[in-house]
Amino acid sequence: MPYYPDDVINEVFAENDIIDYVSRYVKLKKTGKDYSGLCPFHNEKSPSFHVSREKQLFHCFGCGASGNLVQFVMRSEGLDFVEALKLLAERAGISLPENPNEGMDGSHELKKKIYEMNKAAARFYYEMLTKSPEGKIGYEYFSRRKINPKTITVFGLGYAPEGYNVLYTHLKKMGYDDKEIIDAGLAVVRDNKIYDKFRNRVMFPIINLRGNVIGFGGRIMGQAEEQNGYKIPKYLNSAETPVFNKGRNLFSLNLAKKSSPYSIILVEGYMDVISVYQAGIPNVVATLGTALTENQAKLLMKYCSEILICYDSDEAGQKATIRAIEIINSVGGHSRVIKLKGAKDPDEYIKANGAAHFYKAVSEAVASTQFRLGILRTKYSLDSPEGKSLFVKEAVEVLQSITDAVEVDAYINQISDETHVNRDAIYSEYRKRVMAKAKNPNEYERKDFEIKKGSDEVIIPIDVPPMIVSAERKLIFLMVENKKFISEVQKDFPAEEFSTEIHRKLVKLIYDLKKENKRIEPSVLVNAFEGEEINYVSNIFYNLEEYKDLNETVSELIRNIKTEKIKKQMMDEKDPEIISGLIKKMTELTSGNN
Ligand code: UTP
Ligand code: MN
Repeated sequence: MPYYPDDVINEVFAENDIIDYVSRYVKLKKTGKDYSGLCPFHNEKSPSFHVSREKQLFHCFGCGASGNLVQFVMRSEGLDFVEALKLLAERAGISLPENPNEGMDGSHELKKKIYEMNKAAARFYYEMLTKSPEGKIGYEYFSRRKINPKTITVFGLGYAPEGYNVLYTHLKKMGYDDKEIIDAGLAVVRDNKIYDKFRNRVMFPIINLRGNVIGFGGRIMGQAEEQNGYKIPKYLNSAETPVFNKGRNLFSLNLAKKSSPYSIILVEGYMDVISVYQAGIPNVVATLGTALTENQAKLLMKYCSEILICYDSDEAGQKATIRAIEIINSVGGHSRVIKLKGAKDPDEYIKANGAAHFYKAVSEAVASTQFRLGILRTKYSLDSPEGKSLFVKEAVEVLQSITDAVEVDAYINQISDETHVNRDAIYSEYRKRVMAKAKNPNEYERKDFEIKKGSDEVIIPIDVPPMIVSAERKLIFLMVENKKFISEVQKDFPAEEFSTEIHRKLVKLIYDLKKENKRIEPSVLVNAFEGEEINYVSNIFYNLEEYKDLNETVSELIRNIKTEKIKKQMMDEKDPEIISGLIKKMTELTSGNN
């Protein structure tokens, strides 16, 4: 539920127009009453993304993404409800109350504090590195790694001093308490003592798209080694905190997105990002010590048209590359692979060969399918029929992720040429996989289709006849379109008689608003829902059906629902007498109203 009082939320809605906002991201064209354009939430070539000024809702007929302006901001910026509302409030020059709602757990306040503390910590580490005598070893470390002073400033690199609680003491002096500092992940408790989380490390602040420091990575200044019997990690990363989610952020995306690049290079490590950036390519990011997630891939796709994967050249890097390709495919993205020969990672490659060679490698990035086929080629011997057969079987599996038929055809030709296996045979293998997929879609189902296929199934219990669900949806739509129908529907169906949880909640809201004589708007109703439900509810209001006679439609829908309910009752009933009573009732219903 909304965290601010309704009037505050309504003011934010009133001051922001969905068309104005969305058109900064999507080129919108007026089509009839709506505006339409290419959906920003999935990859498409023809526009199925619609925005309605009247309803203040957006809806994609392709992927099913749907909602109001706050929800658009949540999706497109990766923010939570409060953050999105704040962004819109700021945009409209509205100042939101400091304390949204006393009933909340205060997490919003804590988040704000953590941002402040992180910023203070980043500044502290930076000053340590660039100005203090203790920080000299950090500075020298970066110099040894050929990081220049300008780059240090751009990334806000720093040094965490050796002492066990230097940052903690600094933050205490600024007025933060123990719990806050620990919640921010900047200090940890061990043996009843509070220690700085990062000690004697060079520091890499992680900054989100709004420019807030959300966490840190810290590196020791030598090789990983044993200390007091346990191995200290080379890189230490902030733990997840209320503001730091590793799977939803990327290192340096704040800088990479600035140039509105066509492609963004994805590397493994902080130092790789920094070296590539310093070599003159700012559109480069890294994950935060974990494998690429779907969320990260989606986030990247919002800022570029293709992702150039440039992971380490060892076997682990190769495996991670394949995994990343699959993740990117699964969210409808496009990727190529940059191959670096003779060096472990981009940082070492640039150091050994210079920036120019790196540019060349970037320009020679290979299509991800080509890359995967290349790996298969080394896995099987194409000299033997068995090897060829295994190669072809795996190769057609790789082709499954291509959506362009011409491209599939071209790859089949290529595979046929190199193996001398007849192309029809390869095509038949390919078709077999496609058919298996069609037969057993669940096994192969990709996440990107889930919104569309999943939404109704998640929300609608299977024992409710689809007819009733559909009629109820139309009634809800018509009640909101034209308030005069509310009392008519209410007379026959109290909210609790609607067939699904979500319909009951929605109708109750409508009845309540009507009772209080308040405005009833789709974009406000949608706010009461979360997650998958948002799409479902928003879809109800995106009804494009044309009704000739609204009065007649409403009566008919009411009649249909009643009839369907009786039918259902009849199916479950065994007593002939009751059944004949039901039949009588049904005949009355259908004839009486004609
Ligand atoms: P690598 O071990 O490949 O190091 O880790 P690197 O990037 O080449 O670093 P340098 O060049 O030695 O400084 C790649 C990434 O994996 C995560 C970090 O995000 C690092 O940037 N990592 C690595 C950790 O989180 N913890 C570790 O102990 C090691
Ligand atoms: Mn490295």
